[in-house]
Amino acid sequence: MDRFLVEGGRKLKGTVQISGSKNACLPILVASLLTDDPFVLHRVPNLRDVRTTLKILTALGKQVSFQDGTVTIAANGKLKNKLPYELVKQMRASFWVAGPLLARFKAAEIPLPGGCALGARPVDIHLRGFERLGARCVMEKGNVLLSAKALHPAKITLRFPSVGATQNLMMCACLIPGETILENVAKEPEIDDLAAVLSKMGAVVFADGKGRLVIQGKSQLRGMEHTVVADRIESGSYMLAAAATRSDVRVEGCVPEHNSILLDYMEEAGVPLEIGPNYVHIKPYDTPIKPLRIKTAPYPGFATDLQAPWMTFMTLATGAAEVDEDIFENRFMHAPELVRMGADITTEKSIARINGVKSLSGAHVMASDLRGGFALLIAGLCANGTTEIERVYHIDRGYENPEGKLNALGAKVTRYNPDKDDF
Ligand code: EPZ
Repeated sequence: MDRFLVEGGRKLKGTVQISGSKNACLPILVASLLTDDPFVLHRVPNLRDVRTTLKILTALGKQVSFQDGTVTIAANGKLKNKLPYELVKQMRASFWVAGPLLARFKAAEIPLPGGCALGARPVDIHLRGFERLGARCVMEKGNVLLSAKALHPAKITLRFPSVGATQNLMMCACLIPGETILENVAKEPEIDDLAAVLSKMGAVVFADGKGRLVIQGKSQLRGMEHTVVADRIESGSYMLAAAATRSDVRVEGCVPEHNSILLDYMEEAGVPLEIGPNYVHIKPYDTPIKPLRIKTAPYPGFATDLQAPWMTFMTLATGAAEVDEDIFENRFMHAPELVRMGADITTEKSIARINGVKSLSGAHVMASDLRGGFALLIAGLCANGTTEIERVYHIDRGYENPEGKLNALGAKVTRYNPDKDDF
């Protein structure tokens, strides 16, 4: 398995281009199941999770090609409505196929996604919504069996604004003629991007500004062409890499307002930055980093996916900072690894307390999830000496060519495989 060797203590300088959003393109690719027409998506990042999703679509019977950031999907005979466990266990987001398959076939068999490093991650909100639309959900041998004589529009209130449940139910409702209302939905920008795609396919999907999505479903949906929105988690991750290393970096091709709460906190922490229409320029500074308390929340609150990179930034603050992870029950696996690098962090339930230290030291560490892995990468850039990061495949799930983008900014990150390369 690949590892990263990171040479610390180097300033970054230059411009980094942000890729299309992983968390927008995964559900949009799944939405291609709602039609047999040709379906084209641009600015798709070349990520492990994208390749897994394309394998899933192929396994279900679609013809798929992925070239220079563009995915083209076409029908290739009858679609299947059963998904092999092998693919689901690699990626929780594969459960998003439930909505489209239920809508098209009134029956689907999807392996229940297991938990992951972040916690149990149930799908009860998805299933409750499908039941409200007229489906029967039965669990059998680790699979979810969905079936319905007929599906009908409904008014569904989500008990929590789950991103995935919102997207799954949006896709299902778009193929049910009539008006479905989803209440207490997620408001992430990835939801807006999926809504734009479903509208291009012929459904009517709009947010009524009261935290509700109003969906006019149709009996048939057409193909479409779309360009994916910029990845706000990748852009926030590079902004924090620049701030933590006190570098001069222009993060380009992003949507700054999708990172507005992060930018507010970074400015409050003392980071000088300039916000443009599609870029954020992080400027060098030598003043102290002010320790802050943050709490993760559904959008537009502080993104849980940026909690780990933010924690690395706070390890170098002057004083005591605090992170309250309110979305996932186990999202501090990066903390003990940062402690191995000299950080002073204690965690108790959903709270991590960080006492800033003067510097971090390179060490041999291990990534446990994609965002925690990038947090270790940032720590390696800041640390004195060399850091070796194991299980880089986690980082590859959500970051396109991370070592290429960082090395173009003057970093020294080397990818190697100890089983193959002799270093
Ligand atoms: C999406 O996951 C993202 N993944 C996650 O990004 C992100 O962290 C998360 O939203 C929150 O923003 C994709 O978009 C592919 P949720 P999702 O349903 O949809 C609980 C990354 O780093 N819950 O909003 O799975 C759940 O356990 C990944 O790119 C239920 O209890 O997140 C969690 O505690 C990691 N029942 C909370 O809600 C349900 O039916 C938020 O989950 C569904 C969710």
